[in-house]
Amino acid sequence: MATVTQALRLGERTHRNGSLRATDVGQRVRLFGWVDSRRDHGGVIFVDLRDRTGLVQVVFQPEIAPEAHRMADRLRGEYAIGVSGMVRHRAPGMANPKLATGEIEIAAEDLVIYNSSRSLPFPLDDLSVDENLRLKYRYLEIRGQRLSQALLVRHRVTQLIRRFLDERGFLEIETPFLTKSTPEGARDYLVPSRLSPGEFFALPQSPQLFKQILMVAGMDRYFQIVRCFRDEDLRADRQPEFTQLDVELSWTDQQEVLSIHEELMTLLLREIRGVHVATPLPRLTWAEALDRYGSDKPDTRFGLELLDVTALTRDCGFKVFAQAPHVKCLRVPGGGDLISRSGLDAMTDFVKKFGAKGLAYIKVGEASGPVVKNLTATMLQRLFNETGAQTGDLLLFGADSYDIVVETLGRLRLKIGEDLRIVSPDQWNLLWVVDFPMFEWHAEDRRFYAMHHPFTSPKDEALPLIASAAAQWRQDGELPQQHLAELSQIKANAYDLVLNGVELGGGSIRIHRRDLQEQIFTLLGLEPAEAHKKFGFLLEAFEFGTPPHGGLAFGLDRLVMLLTGATAIRDVIAFPKTQQARDLMVDAPASVAERQLKELSLKLALD
Ligand code: AMO
Ligand code: AMP
Repeated sequence: MATVTQALRLGERTHRNGSLRATDVGQRVRLFGWVDSRRDHGGVIFVDLRDRTGLVQVVFQPEIAPEAHRMADRLRGEYAIGVSGMVRHRAPGMANPKLATGEIEIAAEDLVIYNSSRSLPFPLDDLSVDENLRLKYRYLEIRGQRLSQALLVRHRVTQLIRRFLDERGFLEIETPFLTKSTPEGARDYLVPSRLSPGEFFALPQSPQLFKQILMVAGMDRYFQIVRCFRDEDLRADRQPEFTQLDVELSWTDQQEVLSIHEELMTLLLREIRGVHVATPLPRLTWAEALDRYGSDKPDTRFGLELLDVTALTRDCGFKVFAQAPHVKCLRVPGGGDLISRSGLDAMTDFVKKFGAKGLAYIKVGEASGPVVKNLTATMLQRLFNETGAQTGDLLLFGADSYDIVVETLGRLRLKIGEDLRIVSPDQWNLLWVVDFPMFEWHAEDRRFYAMHHPFTSPKDEALPLIASAAAQWRQDGELPQQHLAELSQIKANAYDLVLNGVELGGGSIRIHRRDLQEQIFTLLGLEPAEAHKKFGFLLEAFEFGTPPHGGLAFGLDRLVMLLTGATAIRDVIAFPKTQQARDLMVDAPASVAERQLKELSLKLALD
């Protein structure tokens, strides 16, 4: 360590570098940090000293501190140093309005160099650098503004959440990571047990079962900011380990769960972004969300709603429309001029990727076109009236099964919104989607899956149907076909919170009685023996006075991503994984020694 004086001791920092202002002029300060840059101006050396709070300019002058000035000549980028000196105004005309500390500088008296630094593999905050390189040197990337600020926001968000929930009587309780499979629909990460050879723990996909058990246990209101593990294909908003704000409460109903959490979310938007969002938040039923936006997480920051023209086009004579079970239309105001022929071809290719057979379109006001030529003038006029179309608009049509029409037009709607830059950056559209279906039919394996999870309660009016369908199944050994359509219609007490088209969180009011839980397991094709093996502890717990309860979980990473304006959750996680679920810094996953495998009674069978 190179040191000028003992006057500068570690542990005696007076200020954070970014916090100094003109009001501090005249104070003697002791600062620590990294050399952001160093400039030699004919004998006077300027150093921008950085810590996570920002930069401050330090000036080394031979006439003030000859020894420190001599040493400062050795400073290079990212050297870790300590400086003491006087805060003074910058010389007239030298203030830097771009910097929070731009009116002042430190006239250095002492300098300690704690460590040198290799030259950086990439400039901090340079997003054009290959992301894999940035992930390998993640600690350097975090030194930059972008990530350090995101982590700061993340910290503030978790502190606000903790305070808000504590004030409302929620207890923060930890639940195990070494546990059993929790059904959230992804693959499990497994951990072999040394003490029970041949057996595995599963890392939790969520603390769902434990939080319900905590309600049985009388904890009344629980929360946890907790890591969840899901081995699924990764995307910008998905990581194999991610963080949930997980909440559960007893003696509650949907209305209370929604109102507590919309208060929390609007508080976060206010505190972090200064944005005021009115409550109660809008609520859309799942069916309406699909009908109008073609998505169960609708981005309502712009219109472009899907319009149903099935009835209108039923007898129009144009086969594509007349023979399709559903025809929906997207009206793009002014789109006839904005979107070129090649743009239309690209859109057609786009919808075809999601199963559409084509994309019919009409440029309103043009006398020809692939659809216009197939429709009568009266039919065209009726379509224009129905959709409110004006000259210059573009009408886009999907004609197919309901699922394909809403999926393809829903996606196309988002693409057009993005391409035409309809969304203004400072819109915060929070809404609840409610009344999700209870079951989702999967034709490939001919069975129902729980749309949320198997512990979600159905609407009361469906209870008789569920009881009789389950009883019949148990008797006949298979799902009663006549009930299929009716069961598909059942709605659950399930809800999602959506922000600007991103699913931020979801939850449900739970089943709290053993008989109903068993009926649902039956309808989900879970044999009683298997249900007992997987969830026997829960079924048994339900026999001990389980209170009605419900809750939800938010994706904390997604929330912070939106609050910071980031485009991927990797940018708000200190040490994220790559798309291949690897940690490039520590180089994990990695192979292990033969001895370790032996201890775990494991043998590899690699091809
Ligand atoms: P769900 O599975 O909907 O519900 O998860 C809740 C929220 O967690 C976030 N999320 C993810 N974030 C990042 N990466 C992932 N791989 C990932 N998967 C999910 C989403 C999602 O909305 N136990 C239930 C909640 C409940 O019923 O209380 C559950 O886990 O933002
Ligand atoms: P065709 O009569 O097959 O030439 O189709 C006329 C127009 O309808 C073309 O622009 C096709 O892209 C479009 N089209 C064909 N099938 C569908 C469909 N299922 N949904 C929407 N548009 C379609």
